[in-house]
Amino acid sequence: MVSPMQPPTDALAPPHLLNWSSVARTRWQRLIEQARALYHHPERQQTVGRGKSLGLLFFNPSLRTRTSLEVAAARLGAQVSTLQPGRGTWDMSWAQGAVMDGAAAEHVEDAIAVLGQYYDALGVRLFASGTDLEADRTDARMQQIAQASPVPIINLESAWYHPCQALADAATITDHFDGSPAGRRVVVTWAYHPKALPMAVPNSALLAAARLGCEVTVARPASHALHASVMEEARQSAAHHGATVRETSDLGAAMEGAEIVYAKSWGGLQRYTDPAREAAQREAHRDWIISSERMARTRNGQFMHCLPVRRNVVVEDAVLDGPASLHLRQAGYRLSAQQALLHELWTP
Ligand code: CP
Repeated sequence: MVSPMQPPTDALAPPHLLNWSSVARTRWQRLIEQARALYHHPERQQTVGRGKSLGLLFFNPSLRTRTSLEVAAARLGAQVSTLQPGRGTWDMSWAQGAVMDGAAAEHVEDAIAVLGQYYDALGVRLFASGTDLEADRTDARMQQIAQASPVPIINLESAWYHPCQALADAATITDHFDGSPAGRRVVVTWAYHPKALPMAVPNSALLAAARLGCEVTVARPASHALHASVMEEARQSAAHHGATVRETSDLGAAMEGAEIVYAKSWGGLQRYTDPAREAAQREAHRDWIISSERMARTRNGQFMHCLPVRRNVVVEDAVLDGPASLHLRQAGYRLSAQQALLHELWTP
């Protein structure tokens, strides 16, 4: 049907896109360039999706991912429908061997097997549990869906990864540096948020910047380090380009000379064992906000955020509404990045 987007390292039959880790760099770079071409020349879009259908399952809310994929599929000529499981469809059970005598009327694996007969590809959004680190770290539920699906699964943000966001971010950064992002200084910084948010976006943003060969610094309070496995993968990926990934809990020092400031909030790993302690640690760092004063320490630094963003909590209005923010271009790139993705998926 389509050329594989993920090599068969995980022994899954269809060419799922669950994360970029096992996707060849040449393919990743080709998709970035296709996204850039479509962003600047949307008229070049071809209707390779004619006769194709795309089903979207949103177990969690979305504005950008949902609408940009719907428009991307329509621009390619495909038919697309969006489902919110439990809202107009049946509540689903996930457990293997479950005795389904509760609220859930349908097992998720049955639902996916059925939908796989109607659609040529399925996009799925399924956030982290926030309570089971091993299940979240291994993306257990997204893997369960992928195992059950006879058609390609596109991860629309899982517990651990947000590959569609990462592709748009990589295209935005590449565009900003006129096609040569390697060696540029990117800070991925934690910012305060009243909730313990998942790590999918910071994980993917870090890995994307490292994969571009940027000099990356992860700035976060000591209590809010990213998982060691993600840091190690990022270090190895950056090293492939002779670049490095550093960590610091000194936000001011991280901002010195930064060319991109990618802000995101996330809950600390402590949430999995002691949520009250994690909340207290987070509250102690309310001053981790991206301000004009902090941006002034950068080297013509540009602000990035995946959105939605809490104004004057994560970032000050003056930064977001000023000339040094790429957040709208970044959001715009969600559309062309996903057009590139679907185009590749459906090109014979
Ligand atoms: N950045 C992002 O994924 O936005 P949505 O949650 O609105 O889809």
